[in-house]
Amino acid sequence: MSTTARAHPNIALIKYWGKAPGEGNIPATPSLSITLDSLVTETHVTTGPSQDQLYFDDEPVADRKVLDWLEALRQRLDIPPLEIRTGNNFPTAAGLASSASGFAALIMAIDAHCGLHLDQATLSDLARRASGSAARSMLGGFVAIREPDWVAEPVLGPEAWPMKTVIAVTTTARKSVPSSQGMAISAATSPYYPAWVESTRADFTDALAAVNARDFQALADLAEFSCLKMHGLMIGSRPGLIYWNAATLSCLHAVRNLRQDGVDVFFTVDAGPQVKAVCPPEAERDVSAALASVPGVQEIVVTGLGPGARVVDP
Ligand code: PMV
Repeated sequence: MSTTARAHPNIALIKYWGKAPGEGNIPATPSLSITLDSLVTETHVTTGPSQDQLYFDDEPVADRKVLDWLEALRQRLDIPPLEIRTGNNFPTAAGLASSASGFAALIMAIDAHCGLHLDQATLSDLARRASGSAARSMLGGFVAIREPDWVAEPVLGPEAWPMKTVIAVTTTARKSVPSSQGMAISAATSPYYPAWVESTRADFTDALAAVNARDFQALADLAEFSCLKMHGLMIGSRPGLIYWNAATLSCLHAVRNLRQDGVDVFFTVDAGPQVKAVCPPEAERDVSAALASVPGVQEIVVTGLGPGARVVDP
Protein backbone atom coordinates (compact mmCIF):
# COMPACT_ATOMS: atom_id res chain seq x y z
CA MET A 1 0.00 0.00 0.00
CA SER A 2 1.53 3.30 -0.99
CA THR A 3 0.66 6.82 0.13
CA THR A 4 0.75 9.73 -2.30
CA ALA A 5 1.23 13.42 -1.52
CA ARG A 6 1.44 16.50 -3.70
CA ALA A 7 3.05 19.85 -3.06
CA HIS A 8 3.81 22.95 -5.10
CA PRO A 9 6.93 25.12 -5.25
CA ASN A 10 6.76 28.56 -3.71
CA ILE A 11 8.60 31.71 -4.63
CA ALA A 12 9.77 34.17 -2.04
CA LEU A 13 8.79 37.82 -2.47
CA ILE A 14 10.85 38.71 0.58
CA LYS A 15 13.88 36.45 0.28
CA TYR A 16 15.74 34.19 2.64
CA TRP A 17 19.50 33.93 2.05
CA GLY A 18 21.59 32.90 5.05
CA LYS A 19 21.16 30.69 8.09
CA ALA A 20 21.24 31.46 11.81
CA PRO A 21 24.07 29.73 13.70
CA GLY A 22 23.20 26.47 15.49
CA GLU A 23 21.08 23.47 14.60
CA GLY A 24 17.59 23.25 13.10
CA ASN A 25 18.36 24.99 9.79
CA ILE A 26 16.92 28.25 11.10
CA PRO A 27 16.93 31.09 8.56
CA ALA A 28 18.80 34.28 9.41
CA THR A 29 15.89 36.35 8.10
CA PRO A 30 12.10 36.10 7.90
CA SER A 31 10.60 35.52 4.45
CA LEU A 32 7.28 35.87 2.65
CA SER A 33 6.24 33.71 -0.30
CA ILE A 34 3.50 32.68 -2.67
CA THR A 35 2.73 29.02 -3.33
CA LEU A 36 2.19 28.24 -7.02
CA ASP A 37 -0.49 25.97 -8.48
CA SER A 38 0.40 24.40 -11.83
CA LEU A 39 3.93 23.25 -10.93
CA VAL A 40 3.61 20.02 -8.93
CA THR A 41 5.78 17.48 -7.14
CA GLU A 42 4.09 14.13 -6.60
CA THR A 43 5.62 11.64 -4.18
CA HIS A 44 4.65 8.04 -3.43
CA VAL A 45 5.87 6.37 -0.26
CA THR A 46 5.76 2.61 0.45
CA THR A 47 7.31 0.59 3.26
CA GLY A 48 10.54 -0.72 1.74
CA PRO A 49 12.44 -4.00 2.20
CA SER A 50 15.52 -3.16 4.30
CA GLN A 51 16.87 0.28 3.53
CA ASP A 52 15.61 3.53 2.02
CA GLN A 53 15.35 3.56 -1.75
CA LEU A 54 14.77 6.74 -3.73
CA TYR A 55 13.58 7.01 -7.30
CA PHE A 56 13.33 10.22 -9.26
CA ASP A 57 11.20 9.81 -12.39
CA ASP A 58 11.56 6.03 -11.90
CA GLU A 59 15.40 6.25 -11.93
CA PRO A 60 17.18 5.15 -8.71
CA VAL A 61 19.04 8.07 -7.06
CA ALA A 62 21.31 8.28 -4.00
CA ASP A 63 20.41 11.76 -2.75
CA ARG A 64 22.54 12.36 0.37
CA LYS A 65 20.43 15.32 1.47
CA VAL A 66 17.23 13.22 1.53
CA LEU A 67 18.91 10.18 3.14
CA ASP A 68 20.57 12.24 5.90
CA TRP A 69 17.30 14.05 6.62
CA LEU A 70 15.46 10.71 6.92
CA GLU A 71 18.10 9.46 9.37
CA ALA A 72 17.67 12.61 11.47
CA LEU A 73 13.87 12.12 11.47
CA ARG A 74 14.30 8.57 12.75
CA GLN A 75 16.04 9.87 15.87
CA ARG A 76 12.68 11.24 17.02
CA LEU A 77 10.05 9.32 15.01
CA ASP A 78 9.22 5.72 14.27
CA ILE A 79 9.75 5.46 10.51
CA PRO A 80 10.50 2.13 8.77
CA PRO A 81 12.76 1.85 5.70
CA LEU A 82 10.93 3.50 2.82
CA GLU A 83 10.68 3.25 -0.93
CA ILE A 84 10.16 6.80 -2.19
CA ARG A 85 9.17 7.57 -5.77
CA THR A 86 8.97 11.20 -6.75
CA GLY A 87 8.73 13.37 -9.84
CA ASN A 88 8.13 16.97 -10.88
CA ASN A 89 6.27 18.39 -13.86
CA PHE A 90 8.95 21.14 -14.13
CA PRO A 91 12.80 21.38 -14.42
CA THR A 92 14.61 20.25 -11.27
CA ALA A 93 17.15 22.42 -9.45
CA ALA A 94 17.09 25.24 -11.99
CA GLY A 95 15.81 27.88 -9.61
CA LEU A 96 12.21 26.69 -9.59
CA ALA A 97 12.30 25.61 -5.93
CA SER A 98 12.05 21.87 -6.49
CA SER A 99 13.55 21.15 -3.07
CA ALA A 100 10.73 23.13 -1.42
CA SER A 101 7.92 21.15 -3.03
CA GLY A 102 9.96 17.94 -2.81
CA PHE A 103 10.44 17.98 0.95
CA ALA A 104 6.93 19.34 1.61
CA ALA A 105 5.38 16.46 -0.36
CA LEU A 106 7.71 13.94 1.26
CA ILE A 107 6.98 14.89 4.88
CA MET A 108 3.23 14.85 4.16
CA ALA A 109 3.46 11.39 2.58
CA ILE A 110 5.63 10.04 5.43
CA ASP A 111 3.30 11.46 8.09
CA ALA A 112 0.26 9.79 6.53
CA HIS A 113 1.99 6.55 5.55
CA CYS A 114 3.51 5.97 8.99
CA GLY A 115 0.43 7.19 10.90
CA LEU A 116 2.47 9.83 12.74
CA HIS A 117 -0.39 12.41 13.00
CA LEU A 118 2.04 15.32 13.39
CA ASP A 119 0.52 18.79 13.67
CA GLN A 120 1.00 21.45 10.98
CA ALA A 121 3.72 23.30 12.94
CA THR A 122 5.77 20.13 13.46
CA LEU A 123 5.44 19.14 9.78
CA SER A 124 6.61 22.56 8.75
CA ASP A 125 9.50 22.46 11.25
CA LEU A 126 10.64 19.08 9.87
CA ALA A 127 10.37 20.27 6.26
CA ARG A 128 12.43 23.38 7.13
CA ARG A 129 15.23 21.20 8.53
CA ALA A 130 15.72 19.83 5.00
CA SER A 131 15.26 23.08 3.08
CA GLY A 132 14.38 26.46 4.53
CA SER A 133 11.90 27.22 1.79
CA ALA A 134 10.18 23.81 2.11
CA ALA A 135 8.38 24.96 5.25
CA ARG A 136 6.56 27.59 3.14
CA SER A 137 5.29 24.98 0.63
CA MET A 138 3.34 23.31 3.46
CA LEU A 139 0.70 26.05 3.07
CA GLY A 140 -1.08 27.68 0.12
CA GLY A 141 -1.42 31.30 -1.05
CA PHE A 142 0.71 33.93 0.71
CA VAL A 143 2.85 32.36 3.45
CA ALA A 144 5.26 33.79 6.03
CA ILE A 145 8.01 32.24 8.12
CA ARG A 146 9.52 34.23 10.96
CA GLU A 147 10.85 34.15 14.48
CA PRO A 148 10.38 32.82 17.08
CA ASP A 149 9.02 29.51 15.73
CA TRP A 150 10.19 29.60 12.10
CA VAL A 151 7.24 27.52 10.89
CA ALA A 152 4.86 28.33 8.03
CA GLU A 153 2.19 30.89 8.89
CA PRO A 154 -0.80 31.51 6.60
CA VAL A 155 -1.07 35.15 5.49
CA LEU A 156 -3.75 35.06 2.73
CA GLY A 157 -5.32 31.96 1.20
CA PRO A 158 -4.93 31.23 -2.54
CA GLU A 159 -8.30 32.81 -3.42
CA ALA A 160 -8.06 35.88 -1.19
CA TRP A 161 -5.93 37.99 -3.55
CA PRO A 162 -5.65 36.28 -6.98
CA MET A 163 -2.26 36.64 -8.59
CA LYS A 164 -0.56 35.10 -11.61
CA THR A 165 3.12 34.25 -11.89
CA VAL A 166 4.59 34.16 -15.38
CA ILE A 167 7.83 32.18 -15.33
CA ALA A 168 10.35 32.84 -18.09
CA VAL A 169 12.55 29.74 -18.29
CA THR A 170 15.94 30.83 -19.64
CA THR A 171 17.71 27.48 -19.22
CA THR A 172 16.85 24.00 -18.00
CA ALA A 173 20.42 23.24 -16.88
CA ARG A 174 21.03 22.51 -13.19
CA LYS A 175 22.24 25.51 -11.19
CA SER A 176 25.93 25.80 -10.43
CA VAL A 177 26.09 26.55 -6.68
CA PRO A 178 23.40 24.92 -4.47
CA SER A 179 21.63 27.38 -2.17
CA SER A 180 23.02 26.09 1.17
CA GLN A 181 26.57 26.36 -0.14
CA GLY A 182 25.88 29.78 -1.67
CA MET A 183 24.42 31.05 1.61
CA ALA A 184 27.50 29.91 3.54
CA ILE A 185 29.77 31.69 1.03
CA SER A 186 27.77 34.93 1.29
CA ALA A 187 27.65 34.86 5.11
CA ALA A 188 31.39 34.20 5.35
CA THR A 189 32.64 36.59 2.71
CA SER A 190 30.23 39.33 1.68
CA PRO A 191 30.72 42.70 3.38
CA TYR A 192 27.01 43.30 2.70
CA TYR A 193 25.77 40.30 4.68
CA PRO A 194 25.13 42.05 8.05
CA ALA A 195 23.22 44.84 6.27
CA TRP A 196 21.18 42.27 4.34
CA VAL A 197 20.12 40.45 7.52
CA GLU A 198 19.33 43.69 9.33
CA SER A 199 17.35 45.37 6.53
CA THR A 200 15.32 42.28 5.55
CA ARG A 201 13.37 42.42 8.83
CA ALA A 202 11.89 45.81 7.90
CA ASP A 203 11.17 44.66 4.32
CA PHE A 204 9.30 41.66 5.72
CA THR A 205 7.15 43.76 8.07
CA ASP A 206 6.33 46.24 5.30
CA ALA A 207 5.54 43.49 2.79
CA LEU A 208 3.24 41.73 5.24
CA ALA A 209 1.35 45.00 5.66
CA ALA A 210 1.20 45.47 1.86
CA VAL A 211 -0.25 41.98 1.37
CA ASN A 212 -2.82 42.45 4.12
CA ALA A 213 -3.81 45.80 2.55
CA ARG A 214 -3.82 44.23 -0.99
CA ASP A 215 -1.48 47.09 -1.98
CA PHE A 216 0.10 45.83 -5.24
CA GLN A 217 2.39 48.83 -5.83
CA ALA A 218 3.87 48.65 -2.34
CA LEU A 219 4.41 44.90 -2.66
CA ALA A 220 5.97 45.31 -6.13
CA ASP A 221 8.44 47.87 -4.80
CA LEU A 222 9.44 45.73 -1.79
CA ALA A 223 9.68 42.45 -3.73
CA GLU A 224 12.01 43.91 -6.39
CA PHE A 225 14.06 45.59 -3.64
CA SER A 226 14.44 42.28 -1.76
CA CYS A 227 15.30 40.37 -4.95
CA LEU A 228 17.91 42.81 -6.23
CA LYS A 229 19.39 43.26 -2.75
CA MET A 230 19.80 39.47 -2.44
CA HIS A 231 21.49 39.26 -5.85
CA GLY A 232 23.70 42.23 -4.90
CA LEU A 233 24.73 40.26 -1.82
CA MET A 234 25.38 37.12 -3.91
CA ILE A 235 27.42 39.02 -6.49
CA GLY A 236 29.36 40.76 -3.70
CA SER A 237 30.42 37.40 -2.19
CA ARG A 238 33.85 35.87 -2.78
CA PRO A 239 33.77 34.14 -5.20
CA GLY A 240 30.86 36.16 -6.57
CA LEU A 241 27.71 34.11 -7.13
CA ILE A 242 26.23 35.04 -10.50
CA TYR A 243 23.00 33.11 -11.00
CA TRP A 244 21.78 35.18 -13.96
CA ASN A 245 22.38 34.77 -17.66
CA ALA A 246 21.93 37.38 -20.38
CA ALA A 247 18.27 36.49 -20.90
CA THR A 248 17.59 36.86 -17.15
CA LEU A 249 18.71 40.48 -17.28
CA SER A 250 16.77 41.16 -20.50
CA CYS A 251 13.62 39.84 -18.78
CA LEU A 252 14.10 42.23 -15.83
CA HIS A 253 14.25 45.15 -18.27
CA ALA A 254 11.17 43.82 -20.09
CA VAL A 255 9.22 43.77 -16.82
CA ARG A 256 10.31 47.31 -15.97
CA ASN A 257 9.30 48.47 -19.47
CA LEU A 258 5.86 46.93 -19.00
CA ARG A 259 5.47 48.77 -15.72
CA GLN A 260 6.43 52.04 -17.36
CA ASP A 261 3.66 51.35 -19.88
CA GLY A 262 1.17 51.06 -17.02
CA VAL A 263 1.02 47.25 -16.61
CA ASP A 264 0.89 46.03 -12.97
CA VAL A 265 3.77 43.56 -12.71
CA PHE A 266 6.96 42.99 -10.75
CA PHE A 267 9.83 40.50 -11.05
CA THR A 268 11.63 38.19 -8.71
CA VAL A 269 14.58 35.82 -9.28
CA ASP A 270 15.89 33.07 -6.96
CA ALA A 271 19.17 31.13 -6.95
CA GLY A 272 18.89 30.39 -10.64
CA PRO A 273 18.40 32.14 -13.97
CA GLN A 274 14.60 31.94 -14.30
CA VAL A 275 12.57 35.14 -14.00
CA LYS A 276 9.21 35.07 -12.24
CA ALA A 277 6.92 37.98 -13.09
CA VAL A 278 4.02 38.42 -10.67
CA CYS A 279 0.90 40.27 -11.82
CA PRO A 280 -2.88 40.46 -11.35
CA PRO A 281 -4.79 37.99 -13.60
CA GLU A 282 -5.84 40.73 -16.06
CA ALA A 283 -2.18 41.58 -16.85
CA GLU A 284 -1.10 37.99 -17.53
CA ARG A 285 -1.52 38.05 -21.33
CA ASP A 286 0.59 41.20 -21.78
CA VAL A 287 3.28 39.91 -19.41
CA SER A 288 3.45 36.47 -21.07
CA ALA A 289 3.66 38.01 -24.55
CA ALA A 290 6.40 40.46 -23.54
CA LEU A 291 8.56 37.80 -21.84
CA ALA A 292 8.03 35.25 -24.64
CA SER A 293 9.56 37.71 -27.09
CA VAL A 294 12.76 38.24 -25.05
CA PRO A 295 15.72 36.57 -26.87
CA GLY A 296 16.92 33.52 -24.90
CA VAL A 297 13.60 32.74 -23.24
CA GLN A 298 12.97 29.05 -23.91
CA GLU A 299 9.58 28.55 -22.36
CA ILE A 300 6.84 30.46 -20.58
CA VAL A 301 5.00 28.78 -17.71
CA VAL A 302 1.97 30.50 -16.19
CA THR A 303 0.77 29.64 -12.71
CA GLY A 304 -1.76 30.96 -10.25
CA LEU A 305 -1.71 30.66 -6.47
CA GLY A 306 -2.03 27.12 -5.23
CA PRO A 307 -2.79 25.10 -2.11
CA GLY A 308 -0.41 23.66 0.47
CA ALA A 309 1.02 20.14 0.63
CA ARG A 310 -1.59 17.41 0.93
CA VAL A 311 -2.18 13.68 0.71
CA VAL A 312 -4.08 12.60 -2.40
CA ASP A 313 -5.50 9.41 -3.89
CA PRO A 314 -2.85 7.87 -6.15
O1 PMV B 1 15.35 26.69 0.91
P1 PMV B 1 16.54 26.73 0.02
O2 PMV B 1 17.74 26.15 0.68
O3 PMV B 1 16.26 26.13 -1.32
O4 PMV B 1 16.91 28.28 -0.26
C1 PMV B 1 16.01 29.18 -0.86
C2 PMV B 1 16.71 30.40 -1.32
C3 PMV B 1 15.96 31.32 -2.26
O5 PMV B 1 15.11 30.60 -3.11
C4 PMV B 1 16.98 32.06 -3.14
C5 PMV B 1 15.16 32.39 -1.51
C6 PMV B 1 13.91 31.92 -0.83
O6 PMV B 1 13.56 32.51 0.20
O7 PMV B 1 13.24 31.00 -1.34
